[in-house]
Amino acid sequence: MGVVIKNGTLVTALDQWVNDVRCEDGKIVEIGPNIEASSGNEVVDASGQYVFPGGIDPHVHMELPFMGTVSADDFETGTAAGVAGGTTTIIDFVIPQRDEDMMKALKWWHEKAEKSVADYAFHMAVTWWGDKTAEWMRKCIDEEGIPSFKTFMAYRGAIGVFDDELINIMKTAAQLQGLVTVHAEHGDQVVEMQNKLFGEGHTSPKYHARSRPTPVEGEATERAAQLARLNGVPLYVVHVTCQESIEAISRARLRGETVWGETCPQYLLLDDSVYDKPDFEGAAYVMSPPIRPLGHQEPLWAALKAGTLHCLATDHCPFNQVGQKDMGKDDFRKIPNGAAGIEHRLALMYTYGVGKGWLTLNEFVDVTSTRAAKIFGMYPRKGALMVGSDADLVVWDPEATGTISASTHHHKVDRNIFEGFKVKGLASHVVVDGRIQYRNGDLKVERGAGRYIERSRS
Ligand code: URP
Ligand code: ZN
Ligand code: ZN
Repeated sequence: MGVVIKNGTLVTALDQWVNDVRCEDGKIVEIGPNIEASSGNEVVDASGQYVFPGGIDPHVHMELPFMGTVSADDFETGTAAGVAGGTTTIIDFVIPQRDEDMMKALKWWHEKAEKSVADYAFHMAVTWWGDKTAEWMRKCIDEEGIPSFKTFMAYRGAIGVFDDELINIMKTAAQLQGLVTVHAEHGDQVVEMQNKLFGEGHTSPKYHARSRPTPVEGEATERAAQLARLNGVPLYVVHVTCQESIEAISRARLRGETVWGETCPQYLLLDDSVYDKPDFEGAAYVMSPPIRPLGHQEPLWAALKAGTLHCLATDHCPFNQVGQKDMGKDDFRKIPNGAAGIEHRLALMYTYGVGKGWLTLNEFVDVTSTRAAKIFGMYPRKGALMVGSDADLVVWDPEATGTISASTHHHKVDRNIFEGFKVKGLASHVVVDGRIQYRNGDLKVERGAGRYIERSRS
């Protein structure tokens, strides 16, 4: 069938120019002026609109078994919500249980992900160290297209690793020329503070945040960076939320080390007053690390601008208030950690990043798409507007406005942590693998059309 997008302002991480784009058989096949549409081509008039490479969300958790329940979006509904917002590729995390066979977990993740409507890749979480772990890691890179390994310094007693395990993972990843990603929070310190607060009779959601203040994250980020330095491995710090972590990453980068940083819209746009909401509504914002006090948001914006942080992800991991979050009604330690966000990432970043002058359009494309493609070994197949790249494109109407709400979002969850946020700038059309899947509010996706993307070392 093919798609021709005419007269759009093409924006990449580097350039901006007016041209037409032709997509055939899932690829961009021509970029230039006055492209003639062939019979059967669908034509999109993008005059006055931008054309971006499809968004890449490098940190999501679809149907993740976690804290006694399962995240509410499956691979179909979660990727569909992404498409509605202009995200056309996700990287999910295979997370084996402690002592579980990594390759068995990978097989299960592949089965779950088959119903995706957009392309997907995996990071592999290494949640324990055993005799076979090094060989499994080698297989991930050499045979499975997974060159990035996730480690959790938090979640002690579940998927969190001890420092000796982290060192083994880093050493092995370095030998294999892989990348280590890290959830940086001091697991033991969190448990100590959780138990102390709960023991004093504090049960409500705000004590989740009180039990993991910013030094918990800053210490772990510094430790991870120093261990990565000692073991000679590149590091990517997920969901950075605070000044202390920014400083640790900045110090490492100034020493010349390869340390990347990611943040998420919730850490840029919300503050910890959300935990004071009445009637257990604060539980909707229970995630780890937690939403931070005022004072940490501007440094995060500045760090994105300065190039100390590089990617904007969502950590999309939704749980319903009713039936999931309420598992922790009487004990904040039992509230499943996570929230939805994949649908709104681009609109929030455009509105509050580009719109408020924090980021240029090129920087917007870089942090929402291109940089993730480069760091995680998918460029220029993804994250680029080039002949030969996958035909994943977003036509972006900078004048379109909307208000975010759980009553209208595509996430399969009963709350939206950005409820009431106004956005200016929305996708008008989203092309996924050469087919228009979203058109002026109309989402028409195909279950199972998404493909597994094997990644290479970056
Ligand atoms: O609270 C969060 N972030 N839930 C998802 C798992 C993780 O730590 O990324
Ligand atoms: Zn995490
Ligand atoms: Zn996560």
